[in-house]
Amino acid sequence: MRLAGLGYALALLLTLASWPAEGASPPTDRCAACHLETGDERLAGPAREFAGDIHAAKGLGCIACHGGDARESGLEAMDPAKGYIGKPKRQQILQVCGRCHSDAQFMKRYNPSLRVDQVTEYASSVHGRRLKELGDSKVATCASCHPAHSIRPPSDPKSSVHPLRVADTCGRCHADAKYMAGYKIPTDQLQKYKSSVHSQAMTVKGDLSAPTCNDCHGNHGAVPPGISWVGNVCGQCHTVMAELFKKSVHAKVFVEMGNPGCATCHENHAIKPASDEMLGLGDKAVCAACHGADDKGGKAATEMRARIDALRTAHDKAQAILLKAEHSGMEVSQASFDLNAASGALVKARTAVHAFSVDAVAKEAEPGLAVSGKAFARGVRALEELAFRRKGLVVSVVIILALIVGLVLKIRQVDRRQEGRDG
Ligand code: HEC
Ligand code: HEC
Ligand code: HEC
Ligand code: HEC
Ligand code: HEC
Ligand code: HEC
Ligand code: HEC
Ligand code: HEC
Ligand code: HEC
Repeated sequence: MRLAGLGYALALLLTLASWPAEGASPPTDRCAACHLETGDERLAGPAREFAGDIHAAKGLGCIACHGGDARESGLEAMDPAKGYIGKPKRQQILQVCGRCHSDAQFMKRYNPSLRVDQVTEYASSVHGRRLKELGDSKVATCASCHPAHSIRPPSDPKSSVHPLRVADTCGRCHADAKYMAGYKIPTDQLQKYKSSVHSQAMTVKGDLSAPTCNDCHGNHGAVPPGISWVGNVCGQCHTVMAELFKKSVHAKVFVEMGNPGCATCHENHAIKPASDEMLGLGDKAVCAACHGADDKGGKAATEMRARIDALRTAHDKAQAILLKAEHSGMEVSQASFDLNAASGALVKARTAVHAFSVDAVAKEAEPGLAVSGKAFARGVRALEELAFRRKGLVVSVVIILALIVGLVLKIRQVDRRQEGRDG
């Protein structure tokens, strides 16, 4: 076994050393040729799929992972003495991939910007730990998320780890109740995630910056750097909310209560679009789970909601009157532009909710209220002006009509006089 390992390492070293790094065509690969001819799908399938694999594109062949001698055309190609390891066992796959991917010197020849920490990160994940410590062979290994013979970079839309496909890749196990039956964790993450605002942003709006499973759980299972716990992960993107929350009264009490941070009010996987109904003590309000009308938190929640409602109403009223004026042909573009500041204030006030203090919300809402008030007043003036002009118009039309009637009568009179003289 040790000898075979040594032979494999040697063979690999020799072959790799003799291959130019980029864009090289693979050396005649007898492994694939014979496998395609066997007519056995288990043997031919991998050879066929491998044509689209990144390793094939980089000039690496079957022996990169399986060892052996690719120049031999007979079965002796698969001689353990030449480093052939056969089909790697689950526990072995880590070493097979890690031999190159943990070797910074080697990987640099191909792609200096590629990370080389996948194996270490994986080892610290629940998957890696269960594999090593418990010999649990049902957890994901490298080849579960990167299908052994059709591995593609994450940027390739056909890749199993492209942002649009990660959820299904994880869901293959995590959404399969039968496969996960022996474990005590739910199997609803995929379904819930697919209903979330994040999944919608990604699949419907095409916003690839929205998170999928690996953005929150880490590519290789270790949570992203600088974050001690996956529950803190939201702050990577929603930085302002996270800052406010951290300084708020809830940050401390939630830890004491054993509540997750953001997920207490937003959930982990089925995150819905936010709405003002979440605030206050109404049916859909998240605050009502812990606060009532009599405690300080409940009173504050109601007050915060009132401030936001007032701003939203004032903004909508101003917008409606300006639209009406505009449709009647009045020039109100400056006021409409100014009103944008009020929608900005509304966004800021909704964000400020995460400070969980009435003052913080009021501070953002007040300038918005002032702007809305001004814009509304401008709309009122525009409509008054319009009414005034309309009145003016009616008066001038009446005068003109009167003039025309007078003129017609005068002409007739002149005509009649003419007729009288002629007759
Ligand atoms: C002359 C044809 C031929 C050549 C050349 C050949 N193979 Fe095979 N290979 C087979 C056959 C037949 C089997 C199935 C026999 C068996 O299961 O032991 C097989 C099985 C395998 C398996 C599956 C082993 C398992 O444990 O299930 C792997 C992996 C493999 N070959 C890799 C390679 C590699 C790598 C090379 C080149 C270094 C290679 N083969 C060259 C015919 C060939
Ligand atoms: C990047 C590494 C890698 C390369 C390159 C690679 N394989 Fe594999 N191969 C694996 C791994 C890992 C497995 C085990 C997969 C598993 O357990 O699901 C495997 C399994 C196999 C099997 C067994 C399939 C089965 O279902 O039992 C065959 C046959 C095989 N490979 C042939 C090949 C051939 C032929 C090539 C070249 C055309 C090749 N492999 C290239 C990693 C690789
Ligand atoms: C013989 C060395 C070697 C082995 C063994 C190997 N790889 Fe690779 N792998 C490479 C090289 C070289 C690249 C190309 C890097 C580049 O140019 O971007 C690559 C690329 C990749 C990529 C795409 C990276 C990117 O973003 O470009 C993934 C994913 C990957 N390998 C996964 C695996 C997995 C999983 C295994 C084990 C089943 C494995 N590799 C085994 C050398 C190897
Ligand atoms: C639980 C699923 C999963 C497992 C297990 C896994 N990967 Fe990955 N891997 C991913 C995802 C998702 C990405 C895409 C990251 C991105 O979008 O940048 C990725 C990306 C990569 C890349 C591209 C560079 C990078 O780090 O982003 C390489 C190389 C790679 N994986 C190798 C491996 C190796 C080697 C193993 C085994 C130690 C492994 N992966 C295990 C899911 C997995
Ligand atoms: C091959 C099947 C498989 C795949 C694919 C897979 N997992 Fe897992 N995962 C498992 C198993 C089995 C466990 C162990 C369950 C347990 O912890 O009790 C696990 C555990 C986990 C845990 C720890 C759960 C806990 O709290 O105990 C997380 C988080 C996780 N997986 C996330 C992911 C993500 C994210 C992906 C995709 C990038 C993924 N998994 C892909 C099988 C898989
Ligand atoms: C927006 C961030 C986010 C996304 C996206 C996400 N998760 Fe989670 N996930 C979490 C948080 C937070 C927890 C709770 C972690 C904790 O308590 O330590 C969690 C818990 C889990 C657990 C543990 C069991 C459970 O349900 O509590 C598994 C397994 C898991 N997620 C898998 C997935 C899979 C698979 C996907 C993709 C379909 C996914 N997650 C997408 C944030 C996310
Ligand atoms: C990788 C970045 C990223 C991470 C991590 C992330 N989000 Fe998001 N989040 C987004 C993006 C992008 C949107 C979509 C904005 C849009 O287009 O509606 C979004 C939307 C939301 C919304 C809806 C906002 C609205 O306007 O209604 C909520 C609520 C939310 N995220 C909460 C969370 C929580 C809670 C977590 C952690 C469990 C989290 N997010 C993790 C990027 C992220
Ligand atoms: C105590 C409950 C609570 C906690 C904890 C909480 N939120 Fe919120 N969040 C809300 C409420 C209520 C709203 C709706 C405000 C509104 O629209 O009036 C909201 C709205 C949001 C929005 C949408 C804001 C917008 O512009 O419409 C995002 C994004 C968000 N939260 C992210 C987070 C993140 C990230 C965390 C953790 C750092 C977090 N929330 C923690 C209650 C909470
Ligand atoms: C998981 C339970 C929980 C939820 C949900 C929750 N709170 Fe709290 N909140 C607490 C606890 C516990 C305290 C500290 C004890 C107290 O003062 O009641 C607190 C304190 C507060 C305080 C400080 C009160 C004071 O003493 O000055 C405010 C303000 C507050 N919460 C607002 C809110 C708002 C607004 C929401 C909804 C967006 C909300 N809370 C949702 C548990 C919660």
